[in-house]
Order: sequence, then C-alpha cells, then structure tokens
Amino acid sequence: MQDRTRIVVIGATAAIAEHCCRLWVQRGPTDLVLVARDAAKAERIATDLRVRGGAGTSVEVMIANFLDTADIVRVADATAAAGRIDVVMIAHGVLTRQENCSDIAACRESLEVNAVSPALFAEAFAGHFARADHGTIAIIGSVAGDRGRKANYTYGAAKGFLARYAEGMEHRFAGTGVAVVLLKPGPTDTPMAAENKANGRRLAAVEDVARTIVRGIDARKAVVYAPPIWQLVMLIVRHLPRFVFNRLSI
Ligand SMILES: NC(=O)c1ccc[n+]([C@@H]2O[C@H](COP(=O)([O-])OP(=O)(O)OC[C@H]3O[C@@H](n4cnc5c(N)ncnc54)[C@H](OP(=O)(O)O)[C@@H]3O)[C@@H](O)[C@H]2O)c1
Repeated sequence: MQDRTRIVVIGATAAIAEHCCRLWVQRGPTDLVLVARDAAKAERIATDLRVRGGAGTSVEVMIANFLDTADIVRVADATAAAGRIDVVMIAHGVLTRQENCSDIAACRESLEVNAVSPALFAEAFAGHFARADHGTIAIIGSVAGDRGRKANYTYGAAKGFLARYAEGMEHRFAGTGVAVVLLKPGPTDTPMAAENKANGRRLAAVEDVARTIVRGIDARKAVVYAPPIWQLVMLIVRHLPRFVFNRLSI
C-alpha cells in the first residue's frame, strides 16, 4: 500500500484550497504541489504548510499563467512526469460583479478564469490519470452554478459549465480507477466573499467547508455540497417555478 499521498492544487492561494491543504498535511505524509500565479503568496502558504505538516510533508510551488494553454499543459505534464498523482484539485475562480460584465472584456475574463481555464486543467490532467488508471480530479464549482440568477449569472454560468464538464468526465471514467468530484461550496468566509460579508450575509466557516470537501474527495463522491445543507437549499431553488423565481430578488 502506498504510504504517501501526492496532491496537486491548482489555484493553491485560494483560501478554501489552503484550508484543504492544512487538513491534508496534518493527517499523514503528503507531497503537495501548489500551482499559483502569485509566487510570493504561494511561497508564504508553502512555508506555513511545511511547518504544519512537519517532517512528513513536502511542498513544492509552481507558477503558471492560468489562461495560457501551453502553461496548463506544461503544469499537467511536469507534475505527472514527477510521480503518481492521487488528487488534483482545481480551485481558482473570481467572483466578478455582474454589473461589471456589461464590459465584454471583463465578461470574457470571468468566463475564461471560472470556466475555460479549470476545464482545460481538468482535461490536461485527465489524459495522465487515464493512462495511470488512478487519481481523483476534484473541481471547485459553486451552488451559483445550479440556477442562473440576476446577481451573478456570468459567474453562475461558468460554474454551471464546470458542472456539466465534470459530469461528462465522470461518465468517461465510470468503472475505472479515476474519479471526478465536483465540489459546490455555498457562500464561504474567504476573500472572495468579503463584499457579501460586509453586507451582513451569513457565510460558512472556511474550515468547515474544507473539511466537507476533503471528506467528499476521500469518498470519491460525484457531487459534494459544502456545507451539505446547500444540497437541500438548491434542490428547492432549482425547482421553484419561473413565475415565483422571477419575482424574487436573490
Ligand atoms: N467563497 C465563496 O463564497 C465561494 C462559494 C462558492 C464557490 N467558491 C469557489 O471556491 C474556489 C476558491 O475560492 P475562495 O473562496 O477560496 O476564494 P479566494 O481566496 O478569493 O481565491 C480565489 C483564487 O482564485 C485565483 N484567481 C483569481 N483569478 C485568477 C486568475 N486570473 N488566474 C489565476 N488565478 C486566479 C486567486 O489567485 P490570487 O491569490 O493570485 O489572487 C485565488 O487563488 C473558487 O473556485 C470559487 O469560485 C467560493
């Protein structure tokens, strides 16, 4: 039996990803590859994780441009060539304000960061995982992807795209050693939700969300809501008839 877990985290400076990494390094020998765009921030997180994990932990940092196809392929090829990968978590995202998306360039950037880039990372790793017949591809979507709404439909549509992409990939790998896990956090207390917090919106603790995510990845569940209550909430929201939904200011 393998005694170490090797995990590649794309968008490793995301608060949710960082808290998942804390859980991973605390529970046993772990080799982490942190992929990020901001070297200084990633190095700070790596240093902290090495201290938390102790002697059993190795943490490597890789810098990439997440919107560059060649860079995405480089990251997947290099990390796969360096050894067997147990989990790749794709975590980056940006909560673009909906009103800013009437600027078409900003709208495009939001779609590229939240939809195209994560899908390309998943696809780039999928080939390696297929050849190894091993590994879990974990993609962070959002409850916002479950139903479009006026407050954030560009972001929500990107996350909905990821849900469909993960679903197809899960079908592709059914019955193999590869699992695909779509993670759907609800509003969570991270820098991304700072504005929601300032507006008094209730947010889940990032530690709780990370625990649910890590458990879901371990269980290789196809879809994980975090916190789990959001599964029920979104079931209701998805089924609200249009004539009711369109009157709500949510
Ligand atoms: N917080 C929530 O309420 C919530 C709810 C549902 C889903 N999610 C999802 O959870 C994931 C993690 O988010 P978080 O809440 O932990 O937020 P966060 O701490 O604000 O992290 C956002 C991450 O995305 C990266 N990123 C943003 N734009 C990028 C770009 N153009 N290129 C490369 N990286 C970029 C950031 O990199 P830098 O550090 O370099 O800026 C950072 O690593 C995201 O996919 C988010 O959509 C969050």
